[in-house]
Amino acid sequence: MLLSPFVFKSGATAKNRVALAPLTNKQSHAGGTLSDAEHAFLARRSAFGVVTTCAAHVAADGQGWPGELGIHDDAHLPGLQRLAGTLSAAGALGVVQLFHGGTRAPEAVTGSRPWSASEQPEDPAQPRAATEADIERVIGQFARAAARAAQAGFAGVELHAAHGYLLSQFLSATQNRRDDAWGRDRSLLVRTVLREVRAAVREATGPSSAFLVGVRISPEDFGQARGLDLDESLELSQALVEGGADYLHLSLWDVTRNTAKRPTEHPLSLFRAAVPGASLMVAGKVWTRADAEACLDRGADFVALGRAGIVNPDWPTLAADPAWQPVMPPVTAEHLLTNAVAPGFVEYLRAFKGFLA
Ligand SMILES: Cc1cc2nc3c(=O)[nH]c(=O)nc-3n(C[C@H](O)[C@H](O)[C@H](O)COP(=O)(O)O)c2cc1C
Repeated sequence: MLLSPFVFKSGATAKNRVALAPLTNKQSHAGGTLSDAEHAFLARRSAFGVVTTCAAHVAADGQGWPGELGIHDDAHLPGLQRLAGTLSAAGALGVVQLFHGGTRAPEAVTGSRPWSASEQPEDPAQPRAATEADIERVIGQFARAAARAAQAGFAGVELHAAHGYLLSQFLSATQNRRDDAWGRDRSLLVRTVLREVRAAVREATGPSSAFLVGVRISPEDFGQARGLDLDESLELSQALVEGGADYLHLSLWDVTRNTAKRPTEHPLSLFRAAVPGASLMVAGKVWTRADAEACLDRGADFVALGRAGIVNPDWPTLAADPAWQPVMPPVTAEHLLTNAVAPGFVEYLRAFKGFLA
């Protein structure tokens, strides 16, 4: 199953059920255009059925860090077109992850004060509460970024509604304290963004196009994702699927763990039951073929690899051999450098404990 093709409801066909997870590598040029290093890193991983780009900001005021890929301006198009062409020629579905940092788009990076659902007086970044105009504007920016991804020739986009960035901040009971429609109904923003993205993509690619629109969520609190509730996330998943999401991507960080709210239940069983017909992707510490197959057994359709994909660029090809074992951390810088991980990305990876020897 794992290494056999998967057909999404849109008709898009992936050559296997293994995705390269979105991986920030901080290698884009100032201004957000794609660099050769980033192109080489993703091109080298085109054995994956789906190759997701790093988080790409849909607006200048949503950029989370220096070196982040941009998709908010036509100046980004040539680099994106080149990457989309490379991935599609290699038979991979290229997907751009669409991102806005919200409170985590620092003024030092964007030149403007960060904003989100509500003011966060305890946050040193001092984000302000969104005006109605901010919300309208960002919805349009997500939609135009999706149209730009389609125009560039990508197979799809993934809305980043996980990990405590803008869309996740609006979902959060602690970070969204608004008393208007965007706060009384905390999933309204991500649902509206999905609707407008779908409409923009339909206009760009035609009604019968196979272009994918996925949504990545954090089902429960983890790291910077805060104020989330498992049952709300299950409800959200149903709304997103009804709203036209082609796949739902659960960022679990550890696919072996049960949920925090119901410690005897695994998130995949719960989401599988909540959205029976939907395509489910899952990520978190998948290293071996057995790890990945265990996810499919639990109800996932697709397994996304982050760190294992950095270390093992040919994972989906090599995993066909039952005797093959992936290279595991700690890995040497040399190993990474010979696998199209450029020095700048190697440096960033030093921040991940235990990853580099
Ligand atoms: C270097 C690095 C960069 C990441 N960048 C992103 C990102 O841009 N967007 C995102 O949604 N997740 C990002 N993640 C999370 C991964 O997509 C993935 O969910 C996480 O690493 C768990 O999977 P893994 O154990 O296979 O690495 C990043 C993780 C790493 C290690």
